[in-house]
Amino acid sequence: MSLLFLVLAHLQVILCLSLHSDAAASNPRNVKQNPAKRMKSGFIDKLLASYSTSWKKEKQNIQTYRSLLGSSCDAISNAVVTQVNSPVGTNITYDADQKKIMEVTPALFSLFPKESPFKKAPWDSCAVVGNGGVLANSSCGKQIDSATYVIRCNLPPLNNGHERDTGRKTHLVTANPSILFQKYSALNERRRSFVEDIQLYGDALLMLPAFSYRQNTAVSLRAFYSLEDFSKTGPRPVFSNPRYLKSLADFWRGQGIRSLRLSTGIMMASLALELCKNVHLYGFWPFGTHPYTHQPLTNHYFDNRPANNRVHAMPSEFEALLNLHNKGVIHLHLGECTN
Ligand SMILES: *[C@@H]1O[C@H](CO)[C@@H](O)[C@H](O)[C@H]1NC(C)=O
Ligand SMILES: *[C@@H]1O[C@H](CO)[C@@H](O)[C@H](O)[C@H]1NC(C)=O
Repeated sequence: MSLLFLVLAHLQVILCLSLHSDAAASNPRNVKQNPAKRMKSGFIDKLLASYSTSWKKEKQNIQTYRSLLGSSCDAISNAVVTQVNSPVGTNITYDADQKKIMEVTPALFSLFPKESPFKKAPWDSCAVVGNGGVLANSSCGKQIDSATYVIRCNLPPLNNGHERDTGRKTHLVTANPSILFQKYSALNERRRSFVEDIQLYGDALLMLPAFSYRQNTAVSLRAFYSLEDFSKTGPRPVFSNPRYLKSLADFWRGQGIRSLRLSTGIMMASLALELCKNVHLYGFWPFGTHPYTHQPLTNHYFDNRPANNRVHAMPSEFEALLNLHNKGVIHLHLGECTN
C-alpha cells in the first residue's frame, strides 16, 4: 500500500479536476506533481491483473454501498443546496473552510431550487465521465449516451471531433471555479462567451461549489446571474451542498482515503452510486500510460495541461474505485468501447 502510494503520488492527476483546487494552493501539504514521470509498465500490468475484465454485477454489494452512502450522505436530499435543506436564517458552513459560514438571507434563499433535483432518482443507469487521456480514441461516445443519466466534470469539450469518444448527452456537469477564473476572467468582464459555450450542455444541471472555499462564492454567483440574465435556455445552475461534501469526505476517510480534498471524479462516482441502479465510469485512469496499448497518454483527452498541481490521494481513490469495480458495484471502463 505504501509502495503503491509512493509510485502513484508522482503520477499525473487525470481524473476530474477538484471542485476546490483553485483555493487549495495555500496548504503547505500540497505536493507538486512531476508531469513528466510515467509509471513503469510492470506496475500497470500488476494493477490491470487485479482489474477483472469480465465484470459481473453484484446486487448485494451494490445494495450495501448504496445504503451505507445513503445513511451517511443522503445525496438525494443533500447533494445540492435547496430551499428545503437550507431555510432562511440557517447558516451554511463551508466544507473546505470550516471557519467560514454564510447566512441564508431571503435573497440567497431565492436562488435555491425549491426541492431536490434528484427526487426522481434512482435512474436505471448512470455514466460518469472523467476527463482522462484514456478517453481519447476510446469510441465510448455511443455507450455513454445510452445511459439514462450522464454526469460530466468541469465543463469538458464535447464537440470538434470529441463526440465519438465522449458522447453529447449531459444531465449534470460540474464547474470548477478555476476554469471560470482562467477561461472566463472570473466572469468579471464579458460573459457572453461563457453563456454561449455552456449551451453545449443543453438543460443539464450546472453544479457550482459555491460554498466550499470562500473565494468560490462570488464567482459562482456571477455564473448563476450570467445564466439568469442572458439565457432563457441552457443549464440550470445549482450549488453543491458543503454539508454533503463534508459527509462524503468523512465517508471515504472511513474507507481509508486520507486526502486533503476528494477529486470531483470520486465525488461524482459516489453521487451516482446513490442516484443510479447501474453506474458506469469512463475516462477514469489517472496514469500517464494507456492500460492496454502502453502508449503515453495526455493528461486530459482534450489537452495535456496538468490537471492541477495538487494531490487528491489519486492512488487510494483509484484503488477504491477499482475495488468497487471488482466487487461488481460500479463498472469501470478502461479500454475501447465496442459499438
Ligand atoms: C449563524 O451564525 C451567526 C454568526 O456566527 C450566529 O450569530 C447565528 O446564531 C447563527 N445562526 C444559526 C441559526 O445557527
Ligand atoms: C488518437 O488517434 C489519432 C489518429 O489515429 C492519433 O493521431 C492520436 O495520437 C490518438 N490520440 C491518442 C491520445 O491516443
